[in-house]
Amino acid sequence: MNAEPCTYVIFGATGNLSRIKLMPALYHLDMAGRLPQGTRILAIGRRPWDQQKWLSEVRDMVQAKARDYFDEAVFLRFSERLYYHQGNIDEAECYRRLNLTLSEGQNFPKNIAFYLSISPSDFATVLSFLSDQQLFSEEYGWRRAIIEKPFGYDLDSAKALQKRISQYLTEEQIYRIDHYLGKGMVQNVLVFRFANVMLEPLWNRNYIDHIQITHSESIGIESRGDYYNSAGAMRDMLQSHLLQLLTLVTMEPPVSMEAEALRDEKVKVLKSIRPIPKEAVHAHAFRGQYSKGHVNGEKVVSYLEEANIPKDSSTETYASMKLYIDNWRWRGVPIYMRTGKRMAKAQSSISICFRHPPLQFFRDTQVQCTNANWILMGIQPEECIRMEMTVKEPGLEMRTRTSSLDASFRNEDEKAIDAYEDLLLDVLKGDRSLFLRFDEVEYAWRIVDPILQTWATERDYIATYPAGSWGPEDNRLFDKESQSWRSSLTPESK
Ligand SMILES: NC(=O)c1ccc[n+]([C@@H]2O[C@H](COP(=O)([O-])OP(=O)(O)OC[C@H]3O[C@@H](n4cnc5c(N)ncnc54)[C@H](OP(=O)(O)O)[C@@H]3O)[C@@H](O)[C@H]2O)c1
Repeated sequence: MNAEPCTYVIFGATGNLSRIKLMPALYHLDMAGRLPQGTRILAIGRRPWDQQKWLSEVRDMVQAKARDYFDEAVFLRFSERLYYHQGNIDEAECYRRLNLTLSEGQNFPKNIAFYLSISPSDFATVLSFLSDQQLFSEEYGWRRAIIEKPFGYDLDSAKALQKRISQYLTEEQIYRIDHYLGKGMVQNVLVFRFANVMLEPLWNRNYIDHIQITHSESIGIESRGDYYNSAGAMRDMLQSHLLQLLTLVTMEPPVSMEAEALRDEKVKVLKSIRPIPKEAVHAHAFRGQYSKGHVNGEKVVSYLEEANIPKDSSTETYASMKLYIDNWRWRGVPIYMRTGKRMAKAQSSISICFRHPPLQFFRDTQVQCTNANWILMGIQPEECIRMEMTVKEPGLEMRTRTSSLDASFRNEDEKAIDAYEDLLLDVLKGDRSLFLRFDEVEYAWRIVDPILQTWATERDYIATYPAGSWGPEDNRLFDKESQSWRSSLTPESK
């Protein structure tokens, strides 16, 4: 697929996401020569800035995040693409002038991508104003809208948002972004699974004991207290990112890498997940909140002491969940997922634990019980694929140890690119494979909705965990005593 020149219209261009991700990603794409000639970036901001002020702000944004080094010549080329449009997104006047700007002068390409980097409560309003100006009509070029997460607050609000936005846009025009799903990460999982034929016979309930998916963060809520307190870990990470990872690890091979083929298989997994009845929520889900502690040697405050957090907040900063996929391949295999803020280490990983051999063959020797085999996939920051095997220790005694076969794929000088770079380019190419189709979003909400509803009514108690730890004691989620959280990607410590 070729990327076509387009106008990127960014709503909320002065905000945090634009500052830390979007502008640096667009600059890096320009640096790599991937922005088609003629591409322009029209920033919409409420602040009374002029073009010169905008250029100096973007310079700061890019300099703060430039990979390797800041290239003055590239920035000069990049800045020629930039344009600042001052306006209030609540007012029709902003869109009338925008329409005029886009249609007259300035050589803005007629393919237009509208990026909504604004509060989710403004998504529908902005789209409705754009539609009033006929800005989604594709008479002269394609028109696409990129919608940031979260898509809805729960199942009902997601459906309501979808109903509203589908009045203005076709599904082909909607790009629901999940930046966690950068192309590199998705492709790594897919290549590992579907390009290595030796794994396929093992990838099912006959050999796999259970699967774990962890996304832990050592940072707290930073300056996003208002947002986080209304969302919590289940909405912020589990419902979206972790369920997406689960689908990649467990789905059937898609017929092709086409967007629809990939999304069809992901949705099939989500549809096969056994619903959690309200009375079973406590057996399937756990929540916790960080208390004060130490992270990376630094003293940090508790969640309740963070800025903009009510002192009686019961919002979870840690959430874990057990799911079952009721299909031929996975029936009976528990999948454990957890995510949290202020945990011991920042890490995203998938850990697959295999069953023990059918016979404890060595029990009459010094080897009482061998360790299970694991496949460990580090997603970020450490990217790795490791397979743990049991080997005999050298020497006269019959002793075993765990050895790790390392299939890590990135050399030290090969830097990971930011997921937003892939995704912003995919929009230009019209490749929606990494963007979420509405049924994916809907089924993901269906899975977590009973948990969220139960938690919303039980507000007087929440478990705590010290900041800097691996989370609260939630061992009751595990089906067997032999199962516990796997936090390490190396064999030494589990
Ligand atoms: N930040 C992240 O790390 C992150 C990560 C994932 C997803 N997201 C999603 O990305 C979106 C943006 O998040 P953010 O953190 O960038 O939010 P933010 O820092 O609060 O930025 C919001 C932006 O909207 C603009 N805005 C608000 N009301 C406006 C109005 N009436 N007219 C014109 N502009 C208006 C703000 O302009 P002013 O600057 O003038 O206030 C600002 O540029 C949200 O949907 C969020 O959920 C953010």
